[in-house]
Amino acid sequence: MVLSLPQATSPLAGVVKVPGDKSLAHRAALFAALAEGESEVANYPDSGVTRAMRGALDSLGVPSSLEGGVLRIKGNGMRPFPNSGATAYCGNSATTIRLLAGAVVATRSTAVLDGSEGLRKRPMDRIVEPLRQMGANIRCKGGCAPLHISPAPLEGIGYDLPVASAQVLSCLQIAALGAEGESRFVVNAPVRDHTTRMLRAMGAQVADAGREVFVEGLEKPLAPLHGTLPGDISSAAFLFAAAAIVPGSRVTVEGVGVNPTRTGVLDVLSRMGAKVTLANEREEMGESVADITLAAAQLRAVEISGDLVVRSIDEFPAIAAVAAFAEGRTEVHEAKELRYKETDRIAAIVAQLRALGAEVEEFDDGFAVQGGTLKGGTARANGDHRLAMSMALCGLRAPVSVEGAEILNESFPGFVPTLGSLET
Ligand code: S3P
Repeated sequence: MVLSLPQATSPLAGVVKVPGDKSLAHRAALFAALAEGESEVANYPDSGVTRAMRGALDSLGVPSSLEGGVLRIKGNGMRPFPNSGATAYCGNSATTIRLLAGAVVATRSTAVLDGSEGLRKRPMDRIVEPLRQMGANIRCKGGCAPLHISPAPLEGIGYDLPVASAQVLSCLQIAALGAEGESRFVVNAPVRDHTTRMLRAMGAQVADAGREVFVEGLEKPLAPLHGTLPGDISSAAFLFAAAAIVPGSRVTVEGVGVNPTRTGVLDVLSRMGAKVTLANEREEMGESVADITLAAAQLRAVEISGDLVVRSIDEFPAIAAVAAFAEGRTEVHEAKELRYKETDRIAAIVAQLRALGAEVEEFDDGFAVQGGTLKGGTARANGDHRLAMSMALCGLRAPVSVEGAEILNESFPGFVPTLGSLET
C-alpha cells in the first residue's frame, strides 16, 4: 500500500482516543496465562504485534478470546505449558519472543520459539546468556531465533544488564519467578517498569529500588488480572507529532498511559516548543493515565541523549519527522539501541528523510536532522510500522508518498482514520 496524506491546509483539532498500550497488552496476556484463574482485561488492542503474543500462547496450549476489546484468558498457572514441544511463532514481535522465553523457562516447558525473517535477525543472546546463567537449557545458532528450550531447574542470580532493555529485564524477571531464591538485576537507565508493576499487582514479590530490581521465586500462584489498559502513548505520539507539525493545531488524546518511563516524547516535544498539558490524571492497573493536549507553537531544534533516549526509545521516527519542521539542527546521541529495533532505525530514519530531500547526518549512536530542508518525495517503510507512520506525517507539510505503509497495521490500524478525524 502506498500512503499519501493530504497536505494540511488548516490546523488539526479534536479529541480522540488511541488503542490500548501494546507493551502492557503483551504483559497482560502472558502474565494472565501464568496466573491461576480467569483474567479479564478491557481496551485490549488488536494489531499484528498483540496477535503475535496471543497466537504464540495459543500454540503452547493457552488460548484467549478477544471480544469487544475484552481479552479473556484462563491461566495455566506456573505448570509447564500444555502443548509440550510446540513451536510458538512470534511473528515480528521481539517483545513476544523475549518475554515468552522467560515464561517457558520459568514453567519448565519444552518449546521452540521462532518468528519472521526480521525477528530471526534480532539479537537474542542478550536474554539467552543470562537465562543460561540461571540454569536454563536453550539452544540457538548465532545468538538468534529459533530458540529451542528444554526444562531445567533454575537458581536466582545477580546480573548487571549490559544493555538498557525492558524486554531483557522483563524476560529475566519472569524467569526469576520460577527460580529458587532471590534474583537481583541491575539496569543502568530508567527502562519501562510495567513488568514490575503488573507482577506486583498479581501478588509476586518484586521490589524496585531505583536501578536495582529484586525478584523472589514464586511461593504462591499469581492472581488473575482485572482492569482496563491505558491508551498507548506510543501510538498517541504520532498524533502529537502531527499536531506539532501543523501550525495552529490543538489535539487532545484521552486516557493515555503516562508512566514516567514512557513519557520522554512529551518532554522532547515540549523542549521543541510545543505546549503539552495533562488533565484528569488517574490510575488504571497500577499505571498513571491522563488526557494529554498538545498545542502547536514555533518549533526549535533540540539535542537528545542520556535517559531521555531510553524514555522515548520507540518514538524517534516521530521525533525525527517533527525535527524536519523545526528551526535548526536536531541531534540525537547515545541511541545506538535504535539499530536493533524492527529495522536499524538510525540508518532507516536517515535514509528515508534523505529520500524526502532533508539534510540529515548519521552517527554511530544517533543522527542529526536540519529543520526546514525536507522537500518531499517517496519514502519506504522497510517493514517498520513506526517508520511508515512518521514518514507519512511529513506529508502533512510536503508532497510525500510512503511505500509499504500497510505495515502500520502491526501497531496502529486506525492511524489514518484517527488522523483524518482531526482535520478541520
Ligand atoms: C518494549 C521495550 C523496548 C521497546 C519495545 C517494547 C517492551 O525494547 O523498544 O517496543 O514492551 O518491553 P527494548 O527493551 O529492547 O529497548
